[in-house]
Order: sequence, then structure tokens, then C-alpha cells
Amino acid sequence: MSERITITVDGKALEVDPGTLLIEAAERNGTYIPRFCWHARMKPVGMCRMCLVEVEGPRGPMLTTSCTAVCTEGMVVDTRSDTVKKAQEGVLEFLLINHPLDCPVCDRGGECPLQDQTLSHGPGESRFVEEKRHFEKPIAISDLVLLDRERCILCARCTRFSDEISGDPLIEFLDRGTYTQINTFPDEPFASYFSGNTVQLCPVGALTATPYRFRARPWDLEAVESTCTGCAVGCRVSVQASHNEVLRLLGVDVEATNHGWLCDRGRFGFEYLRSPGRLSAPLVRNDDGELVESGWAEALDAAAAGLRRVIDGSGPEAVAGIGGARSTNEEAHAFATLLRDIIGTPHLDAAVGEAPDPLLLTGAANRGVIGDLETARTILVWGPDLKEDLPVLYLRVRRAAMELGATLIVAHPAPTGLDHCADHVLRYRPGDGAGLLARLTGGDDELAPVTAALGEGPVVAIVGRTGMTEDPGLANAVAAFAAGLPDARVLPAAHRGNLFGAIDMGMSPVTGPGRVAFDGASRGRDTTGILEALDSGEIGALVLLGADPAADHPSSAKARAAIDKASFVVSFDLFVTESNRGADVIFPVDAFAEVEGTVTNLEGRVQKVNRLVPGVGQSRPAVEAIADLVSRLGGSIPATAAAMADRIRETVPGYDEVSWATLGWGPGRDGVVVSASSPAPDAAVNGSAPDGMALHLGRVLYGAGTMIAAGPSLAKLVPAPTARLHPEDAERLGVVEGASVTVTGDGGEAELPVRIDPGLLPGTVAVPANLGLSFGTSPAVSVEAVS
Ligand code: SF4
Ligand code: FES
Repeated sequence: MSERITITVDGKALEVDPGTLLIEAAERNGTYIPRFCWHARMKPVGMCRMCLVEVEGPRGPMLTTSCTAVCTEGMVVDTRSDTVKKAQEGVLEFLLINHPLDCPVCDRGGECPLQDQTLSHGPGESRFVEEKRHFEKPIAISDLVLLDRERCILCARCTRFSDEISGDPLIEFLDRGTYTQINTFPDEPFASYFSGNTVQLCPVGALTATPYRFRARPWDLEAVESTCTGCAVGCRVSVQASHNEVLRLLGVDVEATNHGWLCDRGRFGFEYLRSPGRLSAPLVRNDDGELVESGWAEALDAAAAGLRRVIDGSGPEAVAGIGGARSTNEEAHAFATLLRDIIGTPHLDAAVGEAPDPLLLTGAANRGVIGDLETARTILVWGPDLKEDLPVLYLRVRRAAMELGATLIVAHPAPTGLDHCADHVLRYRPGDGAGLLARLTGGDDELAPVTAALGEGPVVAIVGRTGMTEDPGLANAVAAFAAGLPDARVLPAAHRGNLFGAIDMGMSPVTGPGRVAFDGASRGRDTTGILEALDSGEIGALVLLGADPAADHPSSAKARAAIDKASFVVSFDLFVTESNRGADVIFPVDAFAEVEGTVTNLEGRVQKVNRLVPGVGQSRPAVEAIADLVSRLGGSIPATAAAMADRIRETVPGYDEVSWATLGWGPGRDGVVVSASSPAPDAAVNGSAPDGMALHLGRVLYGAGTMIAAGPSLAKLVPAPTARLHPEDAERLGVVEGASVTVTGDGGEAELPVRIDPGLLPGTVAVPANLGLSFGTSPAVSVEAVS
């Protein structure tokens, strides 16, 4: 860093770093300059002129926009002179010429920078009496965002976000001069996965969110800072509620994870909390085979008796447990303790057959953090389509490639959201990943530019399974290769909100709490193995914690049939799901924003989630419910989440620095990155794409899962599944866009409409993995035209 420079603001000498914008330098030193268009995470444009200040120059003081002025040595600035005040009043008077002043019915009222700054810096009255502009209000520019054009002050925050940050410039200024208006393009809705950020950024109420519009006023809201659990990025959020109902989530700007941004699934995905379908009382199957509401004591007795029957009859290994990846660490640890220590079974898993090897998630060599992307020279993404799976990580990678000059390499069997900003896109047919890796490591001439880029460190590699039909061994091999690149950092990628935390808490067949790996003999079955054993009768009882393998497993049809064969099923959940509709006992448990605890993201960063609202009906925190079940089985575990957190700190390797007190505020607010590590996974990988068509099963952001289906705003965004084919394959099959094909895998089949996708390699069919279809995990697939 070059030497600091000195500037003078309002007579006070300040030391600042060279290159700092004047508006930032002043704010960091306690002088707030009003602004509308400037935002610290976007490039300055100097559009609104609200931040005018006087800067001394050779010809005397000159009005300058402080959001575009870079501090220089000896700069003398006045932010409060009469000229500045007059300029600020003028800007506000002009901005209000057309602003409708409908504050009493505007969502922004009470938290509106235009309202606030008019009061603090405005002229008090206007000279303009002319008719204001009128527009139809509001217009829906997407299913989630409404636009009141006459409120817009043309600051370009929304357009810049969409263009610079999310890369989907679907909102723009139309027309010119006094006719300028903000709008979307005709017939092109604002179909962005990040549209909610523009609502949060808009300094007036021009952009509002349909789930929140007219639901509350800022002074009605209670708020708590928490961590989004929609995926494994772990974005910082402010959860806001009124009358015990969560009404909105806002992004909180932290450097470590989300820079203030959220994806729309995270932002609007809370509506399931008040879904009428939510379980509000325990359900127990009666003698007539019906699930009926019961009291907690009766349900706990029934669950304990049923489990005891299976344990006594067939041994503890006849019980298995799946879940924890949607829970807090405290809940996952209680669940793992129930299964492994109290019941005594090794068969427990937090993933549902779709995740990478747990040893990759806990034992990747040279593990990195998201912040490493800021200094990376080369980034390799060989894993899920980040835009669909880990959307805010996509934003961070995109920023590194577009703004910070990193070379981006994307390896994937189908087009991904990052391809538009990648320097090298490596496409391969599902099953051929090992071959591509061998070419990369073997110095294939055709890949020389890629190999050269990978030789330029620091390298950050984001590694996971690109799809359900990909052998998990490939991600292990890619991670081992990437760890050996210059100054390399590896970020293992998996989707589920707290999968990393659940594995750390012991919810894995191959590692115990704290990433301690078991030897071969002590390992249990993973979810696919558990389902096979349920099918064969080797396992008789299943305990589920917020898991729905009958919907989420790639062979969901087989999973459903296997669960149906279980002699006893206990489920802790929010809803009746595909997996627990045949259960013997279902316990309703508290959800996000209803429990306090911790979660661990893909970096291994442990962050706090906080309670703001009560649960529904008789639902209880899962830790308490599991502790009660444990005591009926003759054991004892901490009965509150706080006591369980203490137990984790005392007993789980790597978590000794993690306490709720330190994670709350201050330096611990960004969480603690746990550095304990399991042995690296086996990196052997073989195989090649099948001779016929090869199936790619990648996830989409809005899947057909229970929680999205239970929220009206996101449920309507779930896309209809399609089969994407290369034009050559479509021609060979004699099908056109929209025609139907039957896709048959080793775990099921479906008839789907065709979408032609020249971005695929010939011989590939791409189908969404999480839209309720079942195809299995083999890339070998048959595709036939439906006549
Ligand atoms: Fe700015 Fe909001 Fe208008 Fe977009 S809609 S230009 S964010 S005022
Ligand atoms: Fe500087 Fe808008 S904040 S011109």
C-alpha cells in the first residue's frame, strides 16, 4: 500500500488511502454526505448530484460530486458551505418535481432516503406547481417485483446492479430527457435470480417486492441478524417480522460472504414458515392405519416404543437416520448423538445421494475461503452450476472474473451461468470428466492455454459434483489436482444449507463429530446404502430429520418404494412429505427464524442463526424433541440448543472457539472458520461416457421441493422440466423444439418436451435434477422420440 495522503474536510485534516473516493473518506471520518446513486459495492456514476461538495481548486472552490472525486494530497473540501447547501436544496427540489409524494401508501415510507434527505437537506418548499408525470401504477415487471415508475429518481442503482453485479441487464432507462423512465424491455420480464437486490437498493419505492408490498411499515417491524440457510454460502441477513410473522429478509453487507447481496430464493424463500400446510401438532398412526393428531407425550412414547421394538428384535444396526442438512448444528448434533450413541447404529447420513463425498467436504487439501476469490489470478469452477446452486458464490466469482481480472475456467457437461464471463469453457459428455482431467494433467496440446492459466497462481478451485450422474470420485480427483496448482485454495461445493455443519456434527457414515474419520470397519451406510438395505429388509426402522429422500434422491422412485418397506418410520419435519406420509410418528419442529443456533457454510465458517418468531401450534425446537426421545430410550443429552452448543464447544474437535456469545457481535460476527480436517478422500476415478446418449442431471434454483412449493411467491417460479438436446441429436431422433421424448435412466423415466441447446455436446441429454423426476445416477440413458 502506498503512503497515506492528507486531505482537509470541513477544516479537519484526515489521513486517507490514495485512491479513496471523497464520499467514502468523509464518511469513514464521521462526515456524512447525502447521496442517492452512490453505492459502495458498485461503480460510481455521478447521476443524482446529491453528493455535491465544494473542493478548492486553482480558480477557487468548485462544486464537485464527491462520489466520483478521488482524494488527492492536500485536497480541501467543504461539505457544508452555503453554496453546497443551496446545491443540495436545488437537487432535491428538482427530484421532487415529478416524485408523487405518495409516502403514506409507499412501502419505502419511513425508511426512504428521499424522505430522509428531503427533511435533512431539502428546501422546505417547492416553487413547482405544475402537474406531475403520471404512469400506470404499479406494473409487475416480474412475479416478484412491482414498478411504480413515477417514484423513480433515475439514480441507476437497479440498472447498474443488474448489469455490473448480476449480469442480467433486464431493467434499463427508456426514452430521453424529461420522458426518461425506468422499465424492462417489451416482452422480457425481469427474470433475474437476483431481482430482490434492486428492491433493497432502490432509494425510493419505485421497485417493491410483491411478497412484502403493503404488509408492514418499518416501525412495525422487529428485526434480528441471522444467516440464510437456503444454500451453503451462508449469506448474512436481517430477518424482519411483524406480529410474529416473518415478512422480509434483507441482505446485510459483510465482506466474508455476500457483500450485502441475496438471491431471490434466499430472500423470498421464507413464506413456507406460515404455510397452512405446516404441521402444528404431532401425528401418530392409529390402529386403523391413519395418522392422527396427538399430544407430545403420547407421540414420544409411540416413537420410543417402535424404535425399541426394532432394536430389540433386529439389533441397533437395523435402525438408520437421514437428515440434519437443513437443521442447525445443535439439532444435527443431537440427531447424530441419538443415532450413533443412544441407538448405536453407524447408518446415518445428512446428504440424500446427491452430494459429493463427505471426505471431500471435510478433507479437501488447501481448503480456502470465499474471500480468496478477491486475490485469485486463476479460478477453476468444476462443480455445480453456481448460478443455480450457490447463487451468491456465482456473484463473487463473476466479480472476480469481470472486475478483478481473474482468468476463469469453467468445466461442466452443460452450459452454466458463468460461461458468459469465462475465459475457457471446457465441455465434456457426462462420464467423460476423468478423460478431460487426464488430458489436463497429461499436457494435451489442445488444452495448452488452459494449462498455462492454471499455472498462474494464486489459483482458487471450486469443486463439487456437476450433476447427479457424475461419479463423486471425479470431484475428489479434481480437488487433488487443483490442490497441487500454484498457491492453490480449494473450496468444496455442495448445495444444502447446513450439509457441511451436519457432517461436522457427526451426521455422516464415514466421519464422526469434528471430521474424525472412521476406518473401513466402523463405517456405516450412506443414504443410497440405507435405501438399499430398507428395500432388502436389512434395515427396518428409519428416523428422518428434515430430510425427504423420496423426493430429493436421484432415484426418488426407488427411494419411495424402499421407505414404504420400512417397518417403523419416525420423522421430525415441518410438513408431511413424500418420505414421511407413511410414517408412524411425525413430530412438528421449529424452523428458520424460530430457533437459535449455528450453521456451518462451505468454507467451514460457523455463523449464528437467531430466533425472532415463535413456531407454529405445538411445534417445538428439534433439540428439545430429540432430547425427550433420547430420555425415553434411556439416555440423556442436553435438552436446549444453548446447552447443546456448549456440548459442541467442549467435545467437537475444531469447534472449541465457537460460542454463541462470540458469534453474536463484534469481530466474531462474521463467524469462525473451523480448520479441523479429515483425511483427503480417495482420488481414484475411472469411467467414460456411455456409447449412446449420456445423461446430465443438474439442479435448478427453484426446485420442486416442499419448502418452495409451500411459499406462493417462489412456487410459481418453478420451471417445467425439459430435455435439452444438441441439434444433431434432435435431428437424428427426428424431433424439434417442443416435441416430446422419453428419457429412461437406471432409476426411472419421464416423457419431456425437447429444448434444443447447441451449448451441449452431441450425445448429451440434460434434464433438471430437482423437479420431482427420478432417473437414477448412471449417465447411460436412452432417449426416444414420442410418436
Ligand atoms: Fe434508482 Fe429505484 Fe429508479 Fe432504479 S427504480 S433508477 S434503483 S430510483
Ligand atoms: Fe454522487 Fe449520486 S451520490 S451523484
